Amino acid sequence: MSENPGMTRRRLLGIGGTLGLTAATGLSTAAALSRRPAATGAELRSAIPLPAAFRTPLPLPPVLKPVSTSGSVDRYEVTQRETKVEILPGVRTPMWTYEGTFPGPTIEARRGRPITVTHRNELPVPTVVHLHGGRNTPTSDGYPTDLVLPEGWPEPVGGTSDMHQMAEMPGMDGMDSMDGTSGMDHMAGMRDPRAVVTRLTRDYTFPTDQRPTMLWYHDHRMDFTAPAIWRGLAGLHFVRDDAEDGLGLPAGAREVPLMIADRAFDGDGNLQYPALDPSLRDRPGVREPYLAGVLGDVILVNGAPWPVHEVDAARYRLRILNASNARHYEIEAVTDDGRRLHLVQIGADQGLLAAPITHRSLPIAPAERYDVIVDFADVPVGGRVRILNRLGSGRTHDVMAFQVARKASDDSRIPHVLARDVPAWRRSDAVRVRDFAFRAGRMRGRHGWLIGGQPFDPARTDVTVHLGDIEVWRLIADVHHPVHLHLVGFQVLSRGGRQALAHDAGLKDTISLRPGESAEIITRFDGYRGRYLFHCHNAEHEDMGMMANLEIG
Ligand code: C2O
Ligand code: CU
Ligand code: CU
Repeated sequence: MSENPGMTRRRLLGIGGTLGLTAATGLSTAAALSRRPAATGAELRSAIPLPAAFRTPLPLPPVLKPVSTSGSVDRYEVTQRETKVEILPGVRTPMWTYEGTFPGPTIEARRGRPITVTHRNELPVPTVVHLHGGRNTPTSDGYPTDLVLPEGWPEPVGGTSDMHQMAEMPGMDGMDSMDGTSGMDHMAGMRDPRAVVTRLTRDYTFPTDQRPTMLWYHDHRMDFTAPAIWRGLAGLHFVRDDAEDGLGLPAGAREVPLMIADRAFDGDGNLQYPALDPSLRDRPGVREPYLAGVLGDVILVNGAPWPVHEVDAARYRLRILNASNARHYEIEAVTDDGRRLHLVQIGADQGLLAAPITHRSLPIAPAERYDVIVDFADVPVGGRVRILNRLGSGRTHDVMAFQVARKASDDSRIPHVLARDVPAWRRSDAVRVRDFAFRAGRMRGRHGWLIGGQPFDPARTDVTVHLGDIEVWRLIADVHHPVHLHLVGFQVLSRGGRQALAHDAGLKDTISLRPGESAEIITRFDGYRGRYLFHCHNAEHEDMGMMANLEIG
């Protein structure tokens, strides 16, 4: 392990930076905004020699084949297991995977056609699968205490075959933590009377009654989401329909999913992660100075470091996801002669925009997605277009490259009208306005991340909304907090008291709040009744309390 906390801490301004500075000097919000740091978190430094940029071919995640398509539901099966994956060329990295790959296999779903995915947990710890951006019933939404226990994990006391309650686990009594606070702290959260715990397998059913878009599935186990995603538990999930297929957008090999994620490696090629309990069994949390978020120094796209992808001199549709725990990117596409290609945004987290928007660069926070067209037609054959991260420095400035391999005809198009079903809620439609502060604070005697001054407790209902109501939520942040709502898409009404930014367009499920920033979002809570969540999608913040219950009644 080689880390350089001192340097990264000063440079990247984690909690010791931004918050301390703001508190000590009483900087106004405006001043804090003008000194906005590029990141919230601290960076791990890899100890293994890293490959040169733009040499490793971009992998495309395999598309999962259904095990059956008869009847009214398509069925899929996914096994979660530990395996070694070649991430760095010639190096085998032990990872936790869906079906043995990272990213996991891609699920291709059609709107109106429900699917069931049976997950089988062969990992050494409990897991939970959440389909991020999915409009799903509460029982299939991957609530953090709806655990799938692996074989051999202690039976809950009084457990029955369907184990409706997670009580204390034998063998964990008396376990205590180093700092003298109760080692059972996190278990308190697991004592959730509403948890539905299963052993070994669980069926997740997705009605797929939602706008076409790119979703992603990832682990969501209470207190341990960040390290589980870091170890590899993430995959893509598309929803498509005939209307979108009929638009004439680039398709087939000219539609490319890009899952961007940073990682760091030790000298043997193992993933580094500053977990307090590397087995991820008992004690949640990360070491100082990583409490504000874990950043890696290797940028992976679809599981390959700084990859390169051969393309025709034609339009491509890039489906971009930031699957990083804490790293933000601002991406741009730069040619060899320094020209910035247009990034024509056609979709946001929750599907197509009403009309395309042209950007020169696009900021992307953890869990956000963009659907973007890039046209390589004017790039000479043999030329290269680098995707760069304006927020990175040194090697984290590079993301990947496209190598233009040949001239080619192109009959794709970008229609001026993409979709007519983007909701346009108005402030006057809202029946309620709520305020939520996303800030650092104390949680059970330790550092935590809080919403409205409280850390997550599955047994407490934080917000109850009525099915069908439109509400405005005002969110305010201390450091970077990408705030995500389950079940619903929302629109950004305002940012910092002004109009929303160009990249806030469309229907979102995650909004990137920057240090000191406030924003208003508006949504209609429709879909299903039951218990859902909203939380910060900085995965370390999420694990350290920054999550709340959303009851739809
Ligand atoms: Cu992508 Cu509740 O998360
Ligand atoms: Cu989600
Ligand atoms: Cu956060």
